[in-house]
Amino acid sequence: MSDKTPKLRSQAWFNNPDDQEMTALYLERYLNYGLTREELQSGKPIIGIAQTGSDLSPCNRHHIELSKRVRDGVIAAGGTVIEIPVHPIQETGKRPTAMLDRNLAYLSLVETLYGYPIDGVVLNIGCDKTTPALLMAAATVNIPAIALSVGPMLNGWFKGQRTGSGTIIWKARELHAAGEIDDDGFMDLVASSTPSVGYCNTMGTATTMNSLAEALGMQLPGSAAIPAPYRERGQISYQTGKRIVEMVNDDLRPSQIMTREAFENAIVINSAIGGSTNAPIHLNGIAKHLGLSLTNDDWQSLGHKVPLLVNLQPAGEYLGEDYHRAGGVPAVIGELIGAGLLPHPDVITANGKTMAKNCEDLRTGNPDVIRAADAPLVKDAGFINLKGNLFDSAIMKTSVISKEFRDRYLSNPDDPDAFEGRAIVFDGPEDFHARIDDESLGIDAHCILIMRGAGPKGYPGGAEVVNMRPPAYLLKQGIHALPCVGDGRQSGTSGSPSILNASPEAADGGGLALVQTGDTIRIDLGACTADMHVPENELAARRAKLTNGSIDAPESQSPWQEIFREKVQPFSEGMTLEGAAKYQDIARKH
Ligand code: FES
Ligand code: MG
Repeated sequence: MSDKTPKLRSQAWFNNPDDQEMTALYLERYLNYGLTREELQSGKPIIGIAQTGSDLSPCNRHHIELSKRVRDGVIAAGGTVIEIPVHPIQETGKRPTAMLDRNLAYLSLVETLYGYPIDGVVLNIGCDKTTPALLMAAATVNIPAIALSVGPMLNGWFKGQRTGSGTIIWKARELHAAGEIDDDGFMDLVASSTPSVGYCNTMGTATTMNSLAEALGMQLPGSAAIPAPYRERGQISYQTGKRIVEMVNDDLRPSQIMTREAFENAIVINSAIGGSTNAPIHLNGIAKHLGLSLTNDDWQSLGHKVPLLVNLQPAGEYLGEDYHRAGGVPAVIGELIGAGLLPHPDVITANGKTMAKNCEDLRTGNPDVIRAADAPLVKDAGFINLKGNLFDSAIMKTSVISKEFRDRYLSNPDDPDAFEGRAIVFDGPEDFHARIDDESLGIDAHCILIMRGAGPKGYPGGAEVVNMRPPAYLLKQGIHALPCVGDGRQSGTSGSPSILNASPEAADGGGLALVQTGDTIRIDLGACTADMHVPENELAARRAKLTNGSIDAPESQSPWQEIFREKVQPFSEGMTLEGAAKYQDIARKH
């Protein structure tokens, strides 16, 4: 390195003594809206704010306001801000699914962070897929990065009861199907759950992924749970802006924070918070972009035996404001450290201190909302990873199995972890909606509902549709859940005990392509197996009738869907794009 070599990568654009002509060209256009040469040439870190808030993205829209406080913090610490538009991802607004956009937002942010003069970045996370998309991009480019949650909405209320976003829709759907509320009642009940700016106030995928961004060490301690409208949200935005400048000065990079140990901590913390079944897809994907291996077996071996401490809907009672007031993620981590359950308390976090230093003295501020580690809500709260001839890997959150469900399916004293049932197979969500109430299917309380054609290639992007309601006539009889299996996903706001994210999917040669309505399915939650009891020769005959051993996927509706389907890896592999992982650390390599 010569003494002429600029220290910050932005100076290669704005102050390169070896190429005055290009420097002038790069510089002049960023002056045209009022930045000064002093801001761009005096060695101040250029901090990108990866802006995911927009009118299209209501969950993250409050980031537009919060970014003003981030900017104040950056400037106070001696940096300059360039705000970066990120491809929008709104979980509830995007057809066919926002999951399809996670990898697109990732790709575009990688190009932006790599190709422009950015020294460090604040990642505006919030709505479900914004968090993994931005962490994946930070992992690939590997410039200093810090995440900032937009924060959950305030608690929703209806007639004196908490109504949680997402979760309430499952309840409203049942009430509506059973004829207990009309269309207007349905709308009013659902809308009561969204009283302010912010992301879902339940322990859905958003609260999960924002909590895990903190658990990975990528946010300031306490940042994840602060509700969006609270004053502390603006205050932590300011602190985040200040801190990213220090991180650039210290050259503290995502690969130094998001280590294998940090992911192992995050798996444990995910169990303790009752995190979403989408988390393994996203964390396995983020890890892959850091060159780390993280598999669904790791989720079972590290996470299954961890107790559930956080009493939030859908598994529990409370909502986001309660979670924050009880101490949020730092209180959960403090409880886990106190009980000796956090595997790696000494990992470094975004504030430059260890997880232990940040959290070890903290405990729950309200044991109803965040349980003490010795008084958990559920003992073994993590996921199991099922395998068999239906798929190589599928995730199940056993902590949400209800007593009703347990009594009906898991009551055989000789075989307490296993049940068998007759398969009812649906090819995608449209088929399910068209036929679920068809009485000729003869669905009874001993059937297992199977959804296929809902994975990354089949849907595409993977639909959140595996948690299928029973037919209306069974609901009226008081049967609220049937076992569900599928190659799609389930909303993190649903509390159903479904077997999800089956990989490989039916549209990619998975065993689900072969199952037929009427087959006997055996699920053993102790042995972690799921099999169709169909002879091998019959399975081979069924496979021979299929194109490439897979079910046909519908035509792509857009260019991105086609590219996505060509490159996408299974859910168990993080649903990443084939070949993307080799670009890790590109800002330093090129
Ligand atoms: Fe955006 Fe839940 S829909 S956070
Ligand atoms: Mg979702």
